[in-house]
Amino acid sequence: MNIRSAEFVVSNSDVSKCPNYQFPEYAFIGRSNVGKSSLINCLCNKKKLAKTSSKPGKTQLINHFLINKNWFLVDLPGYGYASVSKKSKSKFQNLISQYFKKRKQLINAYLLIDIRHKIQKIDLIFIEWLIKNYVSFSIVFTKSDKLIKSKIEKNVDEYKKSLLKFSLKSLPPIYITSSNDKTGFDDVLSEIHQLNKNLVK
Ligand code: GTP
Ligand code: MG
Repeated sequence: MNIRSAEFVVSNSDVSKCPNYQFPEYAFIGRSNVGKSSLINCLCNKKKLAKTSSKPGKTQLINHFLINKNWFLVDLPGYGYASVSKKSKSKFQNLISQYFKKRKQLINAYLLIDIRHKIQKIDLIFIEWLIKNYVSFSIVFTKSDKLIKSKIEKNVDEYKKSLLKFSLKSLPPIYITSSNDKTGFDDVLSEIHQLNKNLVK
């Protein structure tokens, strides 16, 4: 799928104020600093569409980007960064959980995971929460430019093994990407394209 247009629409701290269109949407979620905003910029081929930073905690609101004038990409705040105060941590967590519970337009979530690290407890907790709340999701590993191929394969295998404990009917789709090398995006876009197509059948 080609992204012909990508426009920032609005930022919100309240899910009830998110755009009222019935366009399908796809949300990017994951730990702070995992590369959500960078991935959105890469998918759209626009360097400064979503704000990125080397410091965790950059995205603090729900950000809607209108793609090809008929679907949305959503950039969400990250979860689980240790240095954020307890108060703002729970504020973000509330915002994220309200988004996933209330947003009827959401078709699929993309859960981003830094390929360099062993499975983190907080990601497992979040995966369990998504499953319990019937949120459909795919897994997108980020920063694959930082690891050699054999290590990537090893880490992905370990992830797959950890996912088995959730007794899912099938494993979620898994993608391996790098915003630095601009690799792995075509498959993510193809999945979104297919999901959009299924909606009009
Ligand atoms: P928050 O908004 O704070 O939750 O972070 P985020 O998940 O949106 O991360 P962001 O896209 O702002 O990227 C965080 C840092 O990781 C930035 O310094 C990016 O340049 C870097 N980064 C993102 N993706 C990649 C990647 O694929 N490879 C490498 N090497 N660095 C990346
Ligand atoms: Mg961000």
